[in-house]
Amino acid sequence: MKKRNKKRDFLTVLDFSQEEVQTLIERAFEIKTGYKDELIEYPLRGKTVGLIFEKQSTRTRISFEVAAFQLGGHSIYLSPEKIQMSRGEGIRETARVLSRYVDCLVIRTFEHRTIEEWARYATIPVINGLTDTHHPCQILSDLLTIYEKKGKIQDLTVAYIGDGNNIAHSLIEGSALMGIRLRVATPPGFEPLEEIVKKSLDIAKASNGSIEILTDPEYAVIDADVVYTDTWISMGQEEESERRKRSFKRYQVNMKLMERAREDAIIMHCLPAHIGEEITEDMIDSPQSVIFDQAENRLHMQKALLIMLLR
Ligand code: CP
Ligand code: NVA
Repeated sequence: MKKRNKKRDFLTVLDFSQEEVQTLIERAFEIKTGYKDELIEYPLRGKTVGLIFEKQSTRTRISFEVAAFQLGGHSIYLSPEKIQMSRGEGIRETARVLSRYVDCLVIRTFEHRTIEEWARYATIPVINGLTDTHHPCQILSDLLTIYEKKGKIQDLTVAYIGDGNNIAHSLIEGSALMGIRLRVATPPGFEPLEEIVKKSLDIAKASNGSIEILTDPEYAVIDADVVYTDTWISMGQEEESERRKRSFKRYQVNMKLMERAREDAIIMHCLPAHIGEEITEDMIDSPQSVIFDQAENRLHMQKALLIMLLR
């Protein structure tokens, strides 16, 4: 059995301190701009990243796999239906067995308590690659994108328009931790979870950030530096599609809405986007859009995160 130091998991943004997130942003920015040095060092030499995804993924999975490879490590994608879990082997046993082979696990699953169970039994770091209620890796790299485009994180107004979903929750936590003024506008009935908002409000007090939960998208974007949206129908909610599309009609990021934000506001979307629903095509392609830089930054931030947790 490999001898290990005490492991760190990354299940929600609040698993890290403000200083740690700041360091990750700076480290990821250095990796992005000084890529060759990182390559020469091979900080993940001999390390293996295991990935188990119960939902589809393009960005998260590929960026982790490429990050591991470019850092001198290796990755294994474990398709849930091809491992013994599909025949009933439980998380407890699988987590303990995999901990004897690989150096960390990236998991995408449905209920958040499932990933907590993985973390409880794995003796290696467990990274949340998205659950129904959190997407912390996305928000870490989004903070890098904001830093890159605005030159700072603090003293910015971010407006999130749409569903009170996993992205909204992690953005609320990230904003509270890093001192961002966040306005979240959702239709009534689709607000973020109260417990997450409540906890974040307390944290925001210490960071000089603020969290406002609103229902009016037009008010939320006034003079915003960043306008962020995500799908109205997250993975697993397909059956609610029609009802959701009706409820969210007013919550589209389009030219008219963007006119109320600052002239130099950036448009963010974690992707995949549903063009013509939460965002119009012209906004995705607009000079204000940083959506594809956001996708690229997943790679740089995954590297910073893997180095932090594995080295
Ligand atoms: N943004 C994001 O997590 O994308 P994937 O679902 O493609 O991983
Ligand atoms: N809220 C979306 C994010 C996808 C990256 C979902 O959970 O499907």
